[in-house]
Amino acid sequence: MKLCEKNLEILFKQAIAKIDPEFSTWEKLFIQKASNEKFGDYQTNFAMTSAKEFQQAPRKTAEQIVENFPENEMIEKLEIAGPGFINIYLKDGYLADLIAKMGEEDFEFDFLDREGKVIIDYSSPNIAKRMHIGHLRSTVIGDAIKRIYLYLGYDVIADNHIGDWGTQFGKLIIGYRNWLDEEKYKKNPIEELERIYVKFANEAENNEALNDQAREELKKLHDGDEENLRLWKEFIQVSLDEYNKVYDRLNISFDEYRGESFYHDMMPGIVELLKERKLAKYSQDALVVFFPEEENLHPCIVQKKDGAYLYATSDLACLQYKKDHYQLNKAIYVTDERQQTHFKQIFKISDMLGWKINKEHIWFGIMRFKDGIFSTRKGNVIRLEELLDESVKRVKAVIEEKNPNLPEEEKAIVAEKIGVGAIKYADLSRNPQSMVIFDWDKMLSFEGNTAPYLQYTHARIKSVFRKAAEMNITFDVQDLKLLDEYDHSLALKLSQFPYAVLKAGETFKPNIIADYLFDLGQKFNSYYNQKSFLNSEGIEQNSRLALAARTAEVLAKGLDLLGIEAVERM
Ligand code: ARG
Repeated sequence: MKLCEKNLEILFKQAIAKIDPEFSTWEKLFIQKASNEKFGDYQTNFAMTSAKEFQQAPRKTAEQIVENFPENEMIEKLEIAGPGFINIYLKDGYLADLIAKMGEEDFEFDFLDREGKVIIDYSSPNIAKRMHIGHLRSTVIGDAIKRIYLYLGYDVIADNHIGDWGTQFGKLIIGYRNWLDEEKYKKNPIEELERIYVKFANEAENNEALNDQAREELKKLHDGDEENLRLWKEFIQVSLDEYNKVYDRLNISFDEYRGESFYHDMMPGIVELLKERKLAKYSQDALVVFFPEEENLHPCIVQKKDGAYLYATSDLACLQYKKDHYQLNKAIYVTDERQQTHFKQIFKISDMLGWKINKEHIWFGIMRFKDGIFSTRKGNVIRLEELLDESVKRVKAVIEEKNPNLPEEEKAIVAEKIGVGAIKYADLSRNPQSMVIFDWDKMLSFEGNTAPYLQYTHARIKSVFRKAAEMNITFDVQDLKLLDEYDHSLALKLSQFPYAVLKAGETFKPNIIADYLFDLGQKFNSYYNQKSFLNSEGIEQNSRLALAARTAEVLAKGLDLLGIEAVERM
């Protein structure tokens, strides 16, 4: 089924082609939601923005469009307003039909270029450390983008680019040999790895020799020493086991775990290539890529004096691998704002190498806390698990208060879904590039743009259906009729869901979906407060229940695209 917005575009293009067969600057055709319901359902200021092309008063162009508008089933009326706006009113029948179909048929996104793989690199923690709050945004935003791209019909690979290759391994090996507490390691391996890592840092402050030893062990590892390789693999496994616990709770999964080590052997090749193409030169013994002045980019070191490769070298190898092994649609990276320069450098170098790759760095602002409760305790970072636990605990208390009769088992399940969902939503409902300030009260509130508000709206609809079933009330969405302006307005909002997802995907902004869901939730709740459902009858009752059913479906699907599970009751 075609998106409503796409159908409108097709009709307008036909009308415009009739008045000017040569017209080609199609980006001027912008049809948007009406700013106010007074002005219909959609509006376009095309006649004004294309005044130059038509060389006449915009109102005249608007009149010509309306006169030449093709026969169609979707538009009730077109109205010319002001200097040349066209207000668009949709037919109730068209909208009702679309809403009836929308649960049964998929929307078509065949106008998108979906050839090849979209590889999304996100989460990507560094091995031997538990995930902390800093990993939350990359993990959650990356996962939402994955879900959005899948909805739009792309072929997606979710890639966890774990930091499994670096100087920390030499240090860990030394720490492991010198200070490991076997008991503790058995009980909580990653906590023990963290402890010996910190211990190493403290000891090395007064003992320079330790750093030399760590470098030695790292070199042995890189040269394939069996014992060091075994330890390295063990550290990775222990870490992944821990991460997977958190990913399971977050309902997040990956297709690949290709860490930095995977690209290790490809780095000499990259360096050779950069030398051969005269893009990298020696400067103070290091091998450096310099950029044209207008790029305003710091030079990028690709190999150090001692022969060591860098983060940039590894990401270049990674990009080359993606280019050579896949038909690539897009390579997407999700990291915090501090890596902007890094990705600008990598992307620029890949352009200089003439690689034709669509690539996107999605960066996000750092997360902070409003109240002190979870602000960094001295030297300690907030672990992701602690954060989830705290949220679930708080939600549990709210459920105890609001719905004490819910069976205990269900309370726990619901608290987990809502607690985890609230954290994700607090992050995803904001523009990724804005800073997130964590505020428990706001985040867990049942009012305002929060996950619990949407969850509650969904559960409220489900409760209507539970009661309807008890009363043997049935309905059929296929018989939906829009009977007044409230039905029309709710149906219109529902029909706009796929377009919101499309925009969220195009701009990499999951918050567009969150905003949409919040609007829908508000619209539905005011509809609900105004209409009776179970005490109404016939076609009216059928239509109200049908609209409610679709609202619940869209809320659940929208939450799902944000990685949040809806609940039946709460
Ligand atoms: N491991 C890195 C970090 O923790 C993030 C990796 C992002 N992905 C990449 N291809 N560089 O900061």
